[in-house]
Amino acid sequence: MASSKDTADITLATLRQMKRGRERIACLTCYDASFARVLEDAGVEVLLVGDSLGMVIQGQPTTLPVTLRDMIYHTRCVSRVRRRALIMTDMPFMSDLSPQHALSNSARVLKEGGAHIVKLEGGAVLLPTIDLLSRHGIPVCAHLGLQPQSVNKLGGYHVQGREDAAAQQILEDAMAVVEAGADMVLLECVPSVLAERVAAAVKVPVIGIGAGAACDGQVLVLYDLLGVSQGLRPRFVKDFLSDAGSVVAAVEAYVQAVKRGEFPGPEHGFA
Ligand code: KIV
Repeated sequence: MASSKDTADITLATLRQMKRGRERIACLTCYDASFARVLEDAGVEVLLVGDSLGMVIQGQPTTLPVTLRDMIYHTRCVSRVRRRALIMTDMPFMSDLSPQHALSNSARVLKEGGAHIVKLEGGAVLLPTIDLLSRHGIPVCAHLGLQPQSVNKLGGYHVQGREDAAAQQILEDAMAVVEAGADMVLLECVPSVLAERVAAAVKVPVIGIGAGAACDGQVLVLYDLLGVSQGLRPRFVKDFLSDAGSVVAAVEAYVQAVKRGEFPGPEHGFA
């Protein structure tokens, strides 16, 4: 059985096997080589080069100003030292205006950056794009629920899918993106019961952030885990550094807590 404890590469097949075997997947954002080494040593299976780098690295107010060039640069910083983790990279705001545009930009993220999978924010609207990328051998993770690139439309970073119709839409979007070829789903800030329904409904791994413990894996923004992010601290965030005492121990504590099902606790989720 494929397992994250093997020394072999973590692939999408490994992650699907982990889902089937109910072995939880640990994912963290990662933007540079030094942290890539620390995270891999601690057993993180998926390194997410998130466009959150716009906020935590660049000091931007949102993720919107992040460019494709930024994403390729940071992905390269990570992939240069990567040993076996899967590297997932966010496609920045407006880099997927049309399926063809998304295809050429995603290809650059894989070819020049060294990513293994791209993450795009959106549901049903992305179906032609996911289909095209998938047919060209580019794996896609569909980011559903709270989509930070739509913060101006949403009017803030709010929990999504609380009303029945909105919950049903997220569930249907998840099934549709997987049908179109998505290899992973990321759910951000949705009620824990909805995330549980989504994880049960699709065969691909579902990674959650603020989505409860029933997801197949968890992700946090690394700097939130280390307690160094500025501004409001969302309830799904836990500072692992304050108890652990060192950066390495904090990341190890996060991975162990995810693997044992101890993080997130009910207090980190939404009803
Ligand atoms: O950009 C990012 O870090 C993300 C996480 C919030 C999941 O997409």
